[in-house]
Amino acid sequence: MPSYVITGVSKGLGYEFLRQISANPSNTVIGIVRDKPTTIKKVSEELQGRSNIHILQADILDYDALKGAVEDTAKITGGSLDYLIANAGYVSQFDAYDPIGVL
Ligand SMILES: NC(=O)c1ccc[n+]([C@@H]2O[C@H](COP(=O)([O-])OP(=O)(O)OC[C@H]3O[C@@H](n4cnc5c(N)ncnc54)[C@H](OP(=O)(O)O)[C@@H]3O)[C@@H](O)[C@H]2O)c1
Repeated sequence: MPSYVITGVSKGLGYEFLRQISANPSNTVIGIVRDKPTTIKKVSEELQGRSNIHILQADILDYDALKGAVEDTAKITGGSLDYLIANAGYVSQFDAYDPIGVL
């Protein structure tokens, strides 16, 4: 039963990692998000019945929140973790062809 933690699963690539990896019920997938209620709603609507998905709340810039997520992850997995997908991040909207004033 491989276990995964994926940061930033509310949308984009992180959500797609969550969707694809959790399609295998033998995978335990823990997603870390900033807005837990919204992500739980999305997962329950779009990925119904996937009891192998666990959503935890933490901003990756908040050390204490991350420590809490680590402790909660350990409770889910029994203390080990196989894969960490560090996906969450800021995606710049700046385009290389924008003028310097925009940057
Ligand atoms: N898309 C690309 O072409 C591309 C190319 C190269 C690298 N990447 C990298 O791939 C990753 C995902 O890209 P994406 O296109 O899927 O971006 P995205 O759609 O903007 O999604 C970013 C995700 O990261 C989360 N996030 C951002 N800051 C966070 C924080 N401080 N704490 C917790 N979660 C945070 C967002 O959560 P919220 O919903 O709370 O904002 C969201 O779930 C990023 O690290 C990006 O730099 C993307």
